[in-house]
Amino acid sequence: MRAAPLLLSLLLLPGCKQEMKQQRRLDTYERSSLWPDGTTARPLPEGVVARGDLARDAAAATPPEVTPALLARGQERYGIYCAPCHGPAGDGDGMIPRRGFPRPPSYHTDRLRAAPAPYVYDVITRGYGVMYGYATRVAPADRWAIIAYIRALQLSRSVALAEVPDARERLP
Ligand code: HEC
Repeated sequence: MRAAPLLLSLLLLPGCKQEMKQQRRLDTYERSSLWPDGTTARPLPEGVVARGDLARDAAAATPPEVTPALLARGQERYGIYCAPCHGPAGDGDGMIPRRGFPRPPSYHTDRLRAAPAPYVYDVITRGYGVMYGYATRVAPADRWAIIAYIRALQLSRSVALAEVPDARERLP
């Protein structure tokens, strides 16, 4: 019999929790007369910087030095994230457009050869036309690595044979 009040309170506890959940609240973007602008979403105070923004901006503004290691990283990341559409050599003939996705332009056009690196960085970050952005999948340092690799792909089409190290020895 002594356990009865305890049992009763245990039964009532979940009930209390439910009531807490159902209290009045405002959802984000809901209309509200609390503030003069009529919305619950509050604007950020002036000068606020989200965590990680400064480091991201710094990485975006400072392209790393091009080294064989950076190119190797770029080649690997390009193969994962870009080649499925842009093709292994950047001709725009990857497997996804071959199966019906809009065909991307070739990187080997005068316009894209002349496109500045920050422009390509921006395309990777935000996307372009039907191409969606890769900001969440390709880290800033890797974006620069991919761009270095795209530059290498572009250069590979306009190099004279004499400029290729040891090319003569490799020819049959
Ligand atoms: C799902 C397919 C797909 C993937 C993956 C993809 N792209 Fe694209 N990309 C496109 C298409 C399609 C276009 C053309 C978009 C348009 O004109 O609407 C394009 C356009 C571009 C352009 C040219 C923009 C211009 O000014 O014409 C660049 C540069 C580019 N992509 C870079 C990349 C890089 C770097 C990656 C990898 C991080 C990548 N893309 C991954 C489909 C893709």
